[in-house]
Amino acid sequence: MCGITGYIGSGDAVEIAINNLKRLEYRGYDSAGVAFPDTNSVSILRAPGKIVNLEALLSGASEHKHVAIAHTRWATHGRPCEANAHPHRDCTGQLAVVHNGIIENYAELRRELIAKGHEFASDTDTEVFAHLIEEMCELEKGCDKTEGVANAIRKALHLVKGSYALAVISQSAPDTVFVARKESPLIIGLGDGENFIGSDIPAVMRYTRKVLLLEDGDFAILTPNSVTLTDFEGAPVHREILDITWDDTAAEKGGHAHFMIKEIYENPRTVRETLRGRLMDDGEIVLPSLPFSPEQWQKFRRISIVACGTAYHAGVVGKMFFEQILRRPVEVNVASEYRYSDPILDEETLVVLISQSGETADTLAAMREAQHKGATTLAIVNVVGSTLARDADAVLLTQAGPEIGVASTKAYLAQLTALYLLGLYLAKHDNSGRANLTEVEYREYVAALRELPSQIEGILKEEATYALLAEELAKHHCFFFLGRRYDFAASLEAALKLKEISYIHAEAYPAGEMKHGPLALVEPGVAIVGFCTQPDTNEKMVSNLKEVKARDATIITLLLEGAETPDCSDFTLRVPVTKEAFMPLVSMVPMQLLAYHVARVLGCEIDQPRNLAKSVTVE
Ligand code: AGP
Repeated sequence: MCGITGYIGSGDAVEIAINNLKRLEYRGYDSAGVAFPDTNSVSILRAPGKIVNLEALLSGASEHKHVAIAHTRWATHGRPCEANAHPHRDCTGQLAVVHNGIIENYAELRRELIAKGHEFASDTDTEVFAHLIEEMCELEKGCDKTEGVANAIRKALHLVKGSYALAVISQSAPDTVFVARKESPLIIGLGDGENFIGSDIPAVMRYTRKVLLLEDGDFAILTPNSVTLTDFEGAPVHREILDITWDDTAAEKGGHAHFMIKEIYENPRTVRETLRGRLMDDGEIVLPSLPFSPEQWQKFRRISIVACGTAYHAGVVGKMFFEQILRRPVEVNVASEYRYSDPILDEETLVVLISQSGETADTLAAMREAQHKGATTLAIVNVVGSTLARDADAVLLTQAGPEIGVASTKAYLAQLTALYLLGLYLAKHDNSGRANLTEVEYREYVAALRELPSQIEGILKEEATYALLAEELAKHHCFFFLGRRYDFAASLEAALKLKEISYIHAEAYPAGEMKHGPLALVEPGVAIVGFCTQPDTNEKMVSNLKEVKARDATIITLLLEGAETPDCSDFTLRVPVTKEAFMPLVSMVPMQLLAYHVARVLGCEIDQPRNLAKSVTVE
């Protein structure tokens, strides 16, 4: 996700827009830029890296302007560099745009615009907006007035598929800022003789606490003394003015107490964003970023998944899912072990490296080892422009936006979603006869993928349940998270979540293994979280839970909605039914909430747990 700001009024627009942009730097910091109407055309200033690099470009020429839009980038299309930094202008330099979101049909629109003679200066999807509006202006017989520009923008919006928070300025409407919102946040700050825009409330709080939260389909025309709000057809729209009482720190967290809980609430949006532009309306999965054709995919006889921490836990699910539907050997390895294991690799091996940051030293070393041995490397990575994203042979971006909390939450769901897309894509295109996926099963998986965001939203509505349970669980000195098959894979991540922020020892174990030793640890004060979402193994799972119940452990069972409650269960959590392979994604939301609230009850430092770092760039 990127950050957008804008200003129109009697103040120094460029300075105000950039100062407000700094309040959004947590939303992305690949590059930054600002645009303002100037003598004969719209001027833009842009710099790679943090906003401080943009400030270094300011001069007298950018002072005393009264309209400006600015942008700090989290790259989704096009690597981080000055040319791909926003704002982007049209061919004539008469208008500039900044955008947060993803244009799904940008490639097709770009081809059509180039065929009409438009020249592109960047690799971004956003630049399509600038040339599309220019094209619509042509149809409007020029955009010499505000209404002409507004109509051209509305026409362009009808041609674009995807998500956007968009701001536009035009030399022919120098006292106006145009904004539109669809599925990416955008707010308007109301001042006295001045108005502001921002991706988030922190962007305007220094100047005003009166804001309008735009909804999907809203279009607004801002002048210093007016905000005209319509839909994309031009029909008036009303939005309540909100008075913001947050302090600055709370505002950056969207009103949440910590980045971690904010990012847990971003889980539904994250899954939608990872699916965006990949899962088509007709159910087809397209992965345009993969450089090898489905036929070339056949050459890979083995898959090796390599990662660390949470990403490794996602890889454990990926291994199970890939083997289940691809019927090819898939191994999953901890990167810090893999890199020293002299792995058996060749050109028929696909090495899938998973990483949120794309900078984890052990994972990068694993990539180099794989490439040295002739394997093809595919990175499932969140940070565009990271070392892993740049150096892997192929990249599948998770599109989750920045993850600030050290304890990974939304990144895990994004990684799983990317693995599900990849597995289904490869199985669908496997003509070797080995794949184990019928067309009906494929459609069922696709339908289940589409349902995930709303299922997660349903779980989030129950947060109070987890907060209450946490009061009780915080009294325990040791946790085991038990499961079988996909539930065991989920238990690995659930245990890590709890231990890394509450500092309570927590261990994941295959449920059937407890009697081979760990059962000796079970006593009063030990809590057992039993995942019971896999019908084929639930009967055995319940008997494992009875074994530990008999040793006076506290039993928390995670059950499917509608499933019978085992009588050994002291506390019961419910999750919606989805495909067995997707259960770790759904089950992790309650586990993230539980870990968060146990840590909160214990007064732990949640966003920056002791001894840990967000990106482990050392061995
Ligand atoms: C998990 O909550 C931790 N933040 C940590 O285990 C993390 O997943 C691991 O360091 C891998 O980081 P990466 O995904 O950026 O490579």
